[in-house]
Formats: sequence, structure tokens, C-alpha cells
Amino acid sequence: MRSIKLEELTEEQRTLLDAAEKAMGNAYSPYSGFSVGAAILADDGHIITGSNVENASYSESLCAERSALARANAIGKRIYRSIAVIAKHRNHNTIQVSAPCGSCRQMMYEASHISGSDLEIIMSNTDKSRIIISTISELLPLAFGPEDLGADVEKYRG
Ligand code: THU
Repeated sequence: MRSIKLEELTEEQRTLLDAAEKAMGNAYSPYSGFSVGAAILADDGHIITGSNVENASYSESLCAERSALARANAIGKRIYRSIAVIAKHRNHNTIQVSAPCGSCRQMMYEASHISGSDLEIIMSNTDKSRIIISTISELLPLAFGPEDLGADVEKYRG
């Protein structure tokens, strides 16, 4: 895990973070006022975005990261290099970087297994003055995953 300045990101990482920021603008978060955007970089260079979708029945709300993963799956993209996440509160910019929740980390772990490589995670606060780069293996150590069930997920690479 390391802090990195916006200027130090590669052009590819910056583009990914910009895509996440754009998706954050489409968040549906009338209850929490917390808008999150996520963007996945597939191995073929394709970018798939997601934003959080809340519901009056609160527990049905879906996080931005999982919404992006579901969209990517639906279009047959299952090999990823990186995912960027950014957030904003309706009343103020986030000071801390937006780290994925436990459920999203679990789904990212599965995605990294299908991908066959550790997934890079770029986390940013609202104005991009704080950015942290990590990996899913670092964010979810000792994870439960496909290998525990003997599932061959590599065949889903497509
Ligand atoms: N949220 C995300 O979209 N991603 C996360 O990893 C953490 C939380 C959303 C869910 C909910 O709509 C709002 O942020 C407040 O929890």
C-alpha cells in the first residue's frame, strides 16, 4: 500500500480515475448523500464503470464497485488489471480516500482469481489530493475464495 500523488499516476491510471469520477456523478444516493464511482480497467483496455445505487429499503443498496463488477461480467469482461474508486459526500469532499467495503473486497478477490493476477486498487478522496494504491491481496488477507471450494474459475476468463 502506498500513497501516490496525482501527477505520479500513469496516464492509464489517471484515465481510470477520471472515469470513476465521472461515474460518481451518476450515483443514486438520496439517503446517505455519499456518492461513489468505480472504474475497472480490463486487460484489453476497456473501462467499465459503476456507481452506487441506493434504495428506500436501505439494505438493498448496491456499492459502486460491485455495480461495476456486475456490468463488466454482463458484457463478458472478466480479466482485469486495475480498479479505481472515488467518493464524495453531498455536504463536503471526502478527506480520506474511499476504501472499498468488505463485500466489495470479497467480490474483487473473486475477480482477481478469474483474472489470474492480483488486482490493483486505486483509491482517491474527492479532490484527488490523497490517493492510495494497493492490491486486493493486501486489502483482503487470508481470504475465502474459489480455491476453498475447489472451483475452477479460470475457465470463465472467456
Ligand atoms: N458505498 C460504495 O459504493 N462503496 C463502498 O465500498 C462503500 C460504500 C456506498 C454504499 C452506500 O450507497 C453509500 O456508499 C454509503 O454507505
